[in-house]
Amino acid sequence: MAKARACQRAFVYRGQTSDMQGSMQYLRSRISRGDWRILTLHRNPFRSIFWCGIILASTLSTNNIYTTHFHSSSRTIMAANNTMKAVVIHTKGGPEVLKVEQRPIPTAKPGQVLIRVKAFGLNRSEMFTRQGHSPGVDFPRTLGIEATGIVEHAPGGEFEKGQIVMTAMGGMGRQFDGGYAQYTVVPTNQVQAITVPTKLGWDVLGAMPEMLNTAYGAITKSLNVKKGDRLLIRGGTTSVGLAALAIAKGLGAHVTSTSRRPERESMLREYGADEFFVDDGAIAEQIKDEGQKFDKVLELVGVVTLKDSLNATAKGGVVSLVGIVGNSWNIENFQPQEFIPKYRFLTTFGGWIEEFMDTPLNDIVQQVEDGTFKIKVGKVFHIDQIAEAHQCMDDNAAEGKIVVLTG
Ligand SMILES: NC(=O)c1ccc[n+]([C@@H]2O[C@H](COP(=O)([O-])OP(=O)(O)OC[C@H]3O[C@@H](n4cnc5c(N)ncnc54)[C@H](OP(=O)(O)O)[C@@H]3O)[C@@H](O)[C@H]2O)c1
Repeated sequence: MAKARACQRAFVYRGQTSDMQGSMQYLRSRISRGDWRILTLHRNPFRSIFWCGIILASTLSTNNIYTTHFHSSSRTIMAANNTMKAVVIHTKGGPEVLKVEQRPIPTAKPGQVLIRVKAFGLNRSEMFTRQGHSPGVDFPRTLGIEATGIVEHAPGGEFEKGQIVMTAMGGMGRQFDGGYAQYTVVPTNQVQAITVPTKLGWDVLGAMPEMLNTAYGAITKSLNVKKGDRLLIRGGTTSVGLAALAIAKGLGAHVTSTSRRPERESMLREYGADEFFVDDGAIAEQIKDEGQKFDKVLELVGVVTLKDSLNATAKGGVVSLVGIVGNSWNIENFQPQEFIPKYRFLTTFGGWIEEFMDTPLNDIVQQVEDGTFKIKVGKVFHIDQIAEAHQCMDDNAAEGKIVVLTG
């Protein structure tokens, strides 16, 4: 009895999911054992009636236990205080400018969906916004160009409450508050429901939306990689590079990946790379004969290595500039006829809502479940550790996608 009271107190006053789930499990186990004395727990009859209602509704529900607990707990959290944790930036700077604050839980209008965020991936675009390099972003702002979680409310009925969903881009974390929070509201047209059954953890699911949006779009749409293509992934150890490696291998390409660090070769080979180059900035010079040149190059290091990538490309080949981890945005004194070798093609890629909605997230979740697609989660943090997570990104220390859990 004392334990149940403690659980209820925790549930009512602290409103935390774990306390809620624990108390519900305890109460329901008592009832399933026929111990109905639990319903007379409170001296206050209104409280007892309230608890009876919750317990019976949850017991009679056709949902599975976890979903029932989750729904009840989230309702209670919202009813209890209507606030959530959100990472808010007020001024540009280093990781320390990211502040975890209590903010009102946003509400969804028709055409929008309120998502209870379970995990979000970190992106270099958020690093640029943090550093003040993103034009058109006003502070204060809740950062985050992606989120993975569970539908809390879709007023237009486009999604069912409790569905697992992923979202990315469309101005998230830039023009409107984004995914670095326990709840986020986004337009329904940039949300994919995950309908395949999955037991994957939130760390893995949370790694997917923007990383796969970029990697899938770049490999299949921008570079149109086909079976037998010789593909170079420059910046192979980036999270996008690792996801692109998995996608390209699935398409039957012969993939060469790069890192500046020789010690990362074994990791890249473990994730499927056929060949490895240490990126010293002059890969074209490491290629000894024309037959070794590449049909396609995914350029993630950026403009600092772009000319060399073009020179490492075979006649008729294409280079897609997708990333800029080299931290340089412009090519000084750009003279196209001197810069781009003849019979080579240069393009770019950026994933927006259309590309995100075209990304076959359900297929990839299924392949990860089957073990045929490897997602490389680098490091996992809690939302309270957001400054550490950004420091890890600044330090290039993750070796894979950095994911932040919100609960
Ligand atoms: N176009 C789009 O739609 C889109 C969308 C998402 C991301 N992106 C871009 O894609 C790129 C990859 O993003 P990500 O989040 O996957 O990156 P990430 O995981 O944070 O990349 C970290 C890795 O980048 C490499 N790196 C860092 N600085 C470098 C430098 N100066 N020269 C060469 N390599 C360097 C390091 O690899 P090593 O130490 O092993 O060399 C490091 O481990 C970024 O530029 C990002 O902005 C573009």
